[in-house]
Amino acid sequence: MIVCKTIAELRTHRIADSGFVPTMGALHEGHLTLMDKAKEECAQSIVSIFVNPLQFGQGEDFTRYPRPIESDLEAAERREVDLVFLPGEKEMYPNVPSTIVQVPGITELWEGASRPGHFVGVATVVAKLFEIVQPKIAYFGRKDFQQCAVVSRMIHDLNMPISISIQPTVREADGLALSSRNRYLSPEERQIVPVIYEVLSKSKEGLLLGIELESVLGDARRKLISAGFELDYFELVDEKSLLPVRELQNQCTLIFAGKIGRTRLIDNLQVRS
Ligand code: PAJ
Repeated sequence: MIVCKTIAELRTHRIADSGFVPTMGALHEGHLTLMDKAKEECAQSIVSIFVNPLQFGQGEDFTRYPRPIESDLEAAERREVDLVFLPGEKEMYPNVPSTIVQVPGITELWEGASRPGHFVGVATVVAKLFEIVQPKIAYFGRKDFQQCAVVSRMIHDLNMPISISIQPTVREADGLALSSRNRYLSPEERQIVPVIYEVLSKSKEGLLLGIELESVLGDARRKLISAGFELDYFELVDEKSLLPVRELQNQCTLIFAGKIGRTRLIDNLQVRS
């Protein structure tokens, strides 16, 4: 496995037919499954590990975000990743960037509303990474549902010659979506959080049985709040526009965000494809 810390170095090793997995590290099975897919489908698998300061708001967890570089490199090596791009902050942002990427509309809702500036940071760093790596296919996890929509729209709007491959959410046995932020949870909080997937699944079941949308959403919100969440949103949205829907339709997904203690978690579940 080749590890490159500079863009110049990476460019001497990358090949045209590569599959790319951008990450912020603290790798878990969700990330590693994306790497397996890239390896399986492309001639070269490339992973980036970079905790992108531009996508964290003030008071968010940028400084305490986990950075277990040694074990991340071991995990990537075990999954036979061909190349890891591990740039420092000065390599990615030698100065404050004048050029930023904004994807208005779909970034104004949900995560975008709760975390102002977050998606400008994501779109800008992903666009830079795409320019640097120039992959054939980029792999993203459905766990970050809105991020997938933002990156897909950016690729489309800017005619980037890249396909996006969106992979299913990897979960713990009790349904909790794997996330680098799960390690912030106290043992007591960890006991509570499987309720997210439980509520998503029950709500999906209710909707498919024909129970009225508002009543399903109301029950779900009450259950999450009484479990101890400071609820940000629990909604049924159209997968293309991300706007809330009034009744069950095709291509809609339940989305959740909420805080337990100091930890903010997100999850989602497709109700109808
Ligand atoms: P990060 O949170 O490290 O996630 C990297 C990739 O792993 C994303 O595509 C994310 O959706 C995917 N992922 C995370 N948890 C997953 C799970 N449980 N199942 C499947 N996939 C999962 O997302 C980012 O980093 C950053 O915003 C980034 C795109 C790297 C830009 O900085």
